[in-house]
Amino acid sequence: MAMPVILAVFLCFAAVSGGVQTTGVSLNEASAGTKQPYRTAYHFQPQKNWMNGPLYYKGVYHLFYQYNPYSAIWGNMTWGHSISHDLVNWIHLEHALNPTEPYELGGCYSGSVTMLPGGRPVIFYTGADTQNFQSQNLAFPKDPSDPHLSEWVKSPHNPVIAATDGDIDPSNFRDPTTAWQAADGTWQVLIGGKIDGRGMAFLYQSKDFVNWTKSEKPLHSSAKTGMWECPDFYPVTINSKDGAENYLMKENTKFILKASFLDHDHYVLGFYKAETNEFEVDTTDFMEGNTDWRYDYGSKYYASKTFFDGEKRRRILWAWILEADGRANDKKKGWSGLQSLPRVVWLSTSGKQLMQWPIQEIESLRKDKVEIQGKELESGSLVEVDGITAAQADVEVLFELPKLEDIEQMEPSWIDPQLLCAQKNAAEEGTLGPFGLRVLASKNLTEETVIFFRVFKSHSRHIVLMCNDLSRSSLSKEVDKTSFGTFVDIDSLQENISLRTLIDHSIVESFGGEGTACITARVYPTIAVDKEARLFVFNKGSLSIKISKLNAWSMKEAKRVPFMKRRKPGRLV
Ligand SMILES: *[C@@H]1O[C@H](CO)[C@@H](O)[C@H](O)[C@H]1NC(C)=O
Ligand SMILES: *[C@@H]1O[C@H](CO)[C@@H](O)[C@H](O)[C@H]1NC(C)=O
Ligand SMILES: *[C@@H]1O[C@H](CO)[C@@H](O)[C@H](O)[C@H]1NC(C)=O
Ligand SMILES: *[C@@H]1O[C@H](CO)[C@@H](O)[C@H](O)[C@H]1NC(C)=O
Repeated sequence: MAMPVILAVFLCFAAVSGGVQTTGVSLNEASAGTKQPYRTAYHFQPQKNWMNGPLYYKGVYHLFYQYNPYSAIWGNMTWGHSISHDLVNWIHLEHALNPTEPYELGGCYSGSVTMLPGGRPVIFYTGADTQNFQSQNLAFPKDPSDPHLSEWVKSPHNPVIAATDGDIDPSNFRDPTTAWQAADGTWQVLIGGKIDGRGMAFLYQSKDFVNWTKSEKPLHSSAKTGMWECPDFYPVTINSKDGAENYLMKENTKFILKASFLDHDHYVLGFYKAETNEFEVDTTDFMEGNTDWRYDYGSKYYASKTFFDGEKRRRILWAWILEADGRANDKKKGWSGLQSLPRVVWLSTSGKQLMQWPIQEIESLRKDKVEIQGKELESGSLVEVDGITAAQADVEVLFELPKLEDIEQMEPSWIDPQLLCAQKNAAEEGTLGPFGLRVLASKNLTEETVIFFRVFKSHSRHIVLMCNDLSRSSLSKEVDKTSFGTFVDIDSLQENISLRTLIDHSIVESFGGEGTACITARVYPTIAVDKEARLFVFNKGSLSIKISKLNAWSMKEAKRVPFMKRRKPGRLV
């Protein structure tokens, strides 16, 4: 393993509000002397970030992210750039884009990368000028033979899309998607925006990627959402976990349209007619009916983006995870924001929703496996999972349910799962549930973050509620401790209920029903920190359940090499 020379801790962790400091040479940021209880060990984390366009190029994964080099709060947006061979261990490079031109002096905002025919990548990004007039711009790699793509050159044609159309609000016109080609080769790109309060994805077309014309109709819009940020539009394969990248396929393909608004990443499923550029929603539309499809039902998962990983034929989803602590504390920590674990996304067998699962590469960090098998959990059971680093862990558990005869009846008024989770919290006894995991828990459970299920009867069906109760997650008063929840579309008569939870100091990512529903939470315990953190499995319902199987692992720390000076292309790791 030939490690490059690391010149300075610059981009990531030493820089705090007001200036850049160099704290010395280190191969990994955690050993750089800043031991903080909330710093993650295996999530991608610079000092401050926001999702841009991930990409796989010449054997190297690239992640570009919004980054403020001067402060742990939002502002001075540049494009940070990090690379990886496995999406687990990262090397931070110099910025891909800094605001240098008049059209972007207010910041280089989000965008995407598109692969042009012949394999040349292009960055499509939003620039905001000092008046916050937003326009769309291009940048190309200086040396396409460099697998690190370390230097980018802005197009002399910038801005290629200005907010000149009379209707467009120039301060709400941003985040171009990855572009795709119609059958006749015309490029198509979506840009998030709103007109008269109506959120939409504007569609622009071009023959040459430079001269762009606005299509008469947006691809889709909604009056109920407000501004759409970071739109994402991509094909998924019916009846397969394989990712898709072809926008012209009609057979075996559905399309996902995602938009970020009202603090969440919402998506709808539909069909796309490439000839006429029409997108027809085939489930319920954004904010319609009772189903509101979100990637994640926590509140800190936002501005996500997917990319097609041609190497492993999968579609990978990344999101920006915000802090839930006070701004003053963010400044004190010197950093704010991180990336979710990369997740593979695919269409459920029902065809109604997306499924998500952390990329398999994350499992390479597992060690110290602990197992529990066939253990009955009677009412009131609390079992500690001992022998792992509970503040830095991966847990998979399969619960076997009893006969579902005499369980609670679902009330017709229980339509809001988040509200239901707040009422029927982890302390509230039920019949079938609450059962699940208590994570980042102190010894006497003064602090704990609880992920649990409850099962109700509704006519001939059963309804599974998945909750994340954060009300006791921290003794700090400044932390947002809102609880989250969602109904999980699994039939508990046919299936056992599975839960996988990944814990990394201040982030807890949970996947219920094999990835049918996901909840991400930010957690800032004051007692249950590092070695004081514990992990329990519990049942507080009156009916017994069984742990069919539980596997838990300590997680090793991922390598996040602080900074690599620009250098000649060559082997990295
Ligand atoms: C932006 O950068 C300038 C230095 O160029 C700095 O004075 C200012 O505080 C920064 N603003 C934020 C919000 O980080
Ligand atoms: C840009 O494209 C439009 C539509 O294809 C075309 O009418 C126009 O002439 C083009 N402009 C330039 C400068 O190429
Ligand atoms: C639980 O432990 C903490 C310290 O770890 C202590 O301050 C608190 O009083 C304890 N609470 C109870 C109810 O024992
Ligand atoms: C639940 O899982 C156990 C162990 O994997 C299996 O034996 C059992 O059949 C499953 N139950 C149902 C209802 O699928």
